[in-house]
Amino acid sequence: MTTEVAVVGLGKMGVALAERLLAAGHNVRVWNRSPGRADHLVSRGAIAVETLADAARADILISSVLDDTALASLHGTDGLLAGPHRPQVWIDCTTVSPSAAIAAASAAAASGVAFVSAPVSGNPDVVRSGSAIFALSGDDPDAVARCAEILQDVGRASYVVGTGAAAAMVKLCTNAVLGITMQALAEIAVLGERAGVDRGGLMAFINDSAIGSPFTRYKTNAVASLDLFPTFSPEGMRKDLRLAVDAGRALNVPAPLISAVEVEFSRLVASGLGSGLDFASLILQVARDAGVELHSSTMPVPA
Ligand SMILES: NC(=O)c1ccc[n+]([C@@H]2O[C@H](COP(=O)([O-])OP(=O)(O)OC[C@H]3O[C@@H](n4cnc5c(N)ncnc54)[C@H](OP(=O)(O)O)[C@@H]3O)[C@@H](O)[C@H]2O)c1
Repeated sequence: MTTEVAVVGLGKMGVALAERLLAAGHNVRVWNRSPGRADHLVSRGAIAVETLADAARADILISSVLDDTALASLHGTDGLLAGPHRPQVWIDCTTVSPSAAIAAASAAAASGVAFVSAPVSGNPDVVRSGSAIFALSGDDPDAVARCAEILQDVGRASYVVGTGAAAAMVKLCTNAVLGITMQALAEIAVLGERAGVDRGGLMAFINDSAIGSPFTRYKTNAVASLDLFPTFSPEGMRKDLRLAVDAGRALNVPAPLISAVEVEFSRLVASGLGSGLDFASLILQVARDAGVELHSSTMPVPA
C-alpha cells in the first residue's frame, strides 16, 4: 500500500533509505538541514520540503541523522513536533544512546506521536540492495507493527527486540563488535604484510574460514586493495564506540576491548588520517604505527 512517508536527514544512510521507499512506490517527502542534498532524490520523484514542519505532514516520518545532538534538534524548537501537522508514527533509524531515544520518545508521546526506535544494520550499499536489517523497539505495539510493515519495503528483516530504547542498545552492542572486528582485521593484515603475506590471499582464506562473515567480505576490498571510499565514517564509528563505553560505565560493566578500540578510532580521527575515508582506514593507522608500507595485493581480490 502506498503511504506518504517523510525522510529526514539526507546523509549517506538517509538517501539510501529514501531511494528504497521511492522504488517501492511510496510518496516520499525529504528534508535535510543543509541544502543541496535532495536533488538526486527529487529526480527520482521525491518532494523536497524546506522545513521540518512540512516533513511532519507525512503519515510516517523516518529520521536518520548523525547523533544524539542531531536527534534532539529534531524535536526541539522549530522541530518536527512544533507545527500544526504531525506524523502518526515517527521512526528513528539514527544510531543514538538509549537516553536520546527515550527523550525523543517522550517528546513525541507528549505531542500525540508514536515513536519507534529502529536503528539499521548495514551500510548504505547494503540498504540499496535490500539486505539491511532493523532492530525495533517502542512502547506502542501498533506503531511498532506499522513500522515493521513499512520497513518491509526497505530491508530484509526487522527484529522487535523489546520496548522503550532496547533497539538503541542492541545497535550499540552490534556496532561495538564491528569496530573491534575492523581493528582486528587491520592488525592481522599489517602483521601478514610484514611477514610477506599478500593481503588478498589472507582475506580469501579468512572469508572461507569459520570467522568469515558478510562483514569480512564487505571489507575485503578495503583491506586488500585499500578501497577506502566511505560507507561509514571513522567519526561515526568513534561516536558509536563512545556511546557503548558510556553505557558500560553507567551500567557498571567493564568493557576493555570496546574502550581500547574507541581510543584507536579517536587517534584515527584526531590525526586526520581517516578524514573523508571509510572507517576501514584504521588499516592505515596500524600500518603507520608499525612502520609498514602497504603494497597492492597481487592476488585477485575475493568477492
Ligand atoms: N553509513 C553507515 O554505514 C551507517 C550504517 C548504520 C547506521 N548508520 C547511522 O545512521 C546515521 C546517519 O549516518 P550517515 O552515514 O548517513 O551519516 P552522514 O552521511 O554523516 O549524514 C549525517 C546526517 O545527519 C545530519 N545532521 C547532522 N547534524 C545535524 C543536526 N544537528 N541537525 C539536523 N541534522 C543533522 C546531516 O545533515 P547535514 O547535511 O546538514 O550535515 C546529514 O543529513 C548515524 O547515526 C549512523 O551512525 C550509518
